Amino acid sequence: MPSTPAPDARDSALPARQEEAPGVPRHVAIIMDGNGRWAARRRRPRAIGHRAGARAVNVCIDFCLEQGVRALTLFAFSSENWGRPEEEVGALMKLFLAALDREVEELHRRGVEVRFIGDRTRFPADIRARMQAAEMLTRGNARLTLAIAASYGGRQDIAAAARALAEDVAAGRLRPEQIDEAAVGARMALADLPPPDLFIRTGGDFRISNFLLWQLAYTELWFTETLWPDLDAATLHEAIRAFAGRERRFGLTGEQVSGTVPPSQRSATP
Ligand code: IPE
Ligand code: IPE
Ligand code: MG
Repeated sequence: MPSTPAPDARDSALPARQEEAPGVPRHVAIIMDGNGRWAARRRRPRAIGHRAGARAVNVCIDFCLEQGVRALTLFAFSSENWGRPEEEVGALMKLFLAALDREVEELHRRGVEVRFIGDRTRFPADIRARMQAAEMLTRGNARLTLAIAASYGGRQDIAAAARALAEDVAAGRLRPEQIDEAAVGARMALADLPPPDLFIRTGGDFRISNFLLWQLAYTELWFTETLWPDLDAATLHEAIRAFAGRERRFGLTGEQVSGTVPPSQRSATP
């Protein structure tokens, strides 16, 4: 079982669970990759792979609700994905709109809070309106927080936080010497949630692709060859099992985090 990190002030932002299942991550972040290759293997257009990928999103949400995962962040569309062929971007926008129309009511009924991170100014007005409506409808739902990263980039997130800090300094609300990790972190996306415990990437590539660069600092990483549209509960169980077997040390020694060192000798706080 992974050792539990020091209680995080941001825990309070998540709804309390009836029971904390041991070894279950509180926050899972996923790069949903492999839709295009799934379609290519079937000699179908890439858009068909994206459509098949929508089903896997539901598999994933069902799994998180069943297991008691409290926050799920899904990378749906990166700031770089805007550079894909116009036809593919257009197909993705249509699918995105359809998914919002189809799924949000049901997510609300199941107690899921939906939110979006990323630069939504780049989306067409109809999608932006539905994003906002979904957030308003589901705000405060307590079973699971579902964050969709769309038009999101980790570097863009850090740059926006830097800009917000500069604005605060320029306006006299903040002194430069007050800028520390907490001040930066508070201005990043998902600042009110504990950082992801478990990162999953499907599709067989071993990279972060500009996902949550700041937030993943101490996240456990898990990769699978499974293409996103083929995702099933068994694969997710495998990821959780791997996570449960990890020792998270947060820069300390194994003895410190396993509690074999008396608290008085644990000089550092992760
Ligand atoms: C992930 O699948 C979905 C998006 C990036 C929108 P890809 O479309 O990247 O699929 P592959 O990696 O080309 O197979
Ligand atoms: C990452 O996948 C983005 C999403 C899954 C939304 P990409 O397919 O864009 O990543 P690269 O290009 O393989 O790094
Ligand atoms: Mg890809």
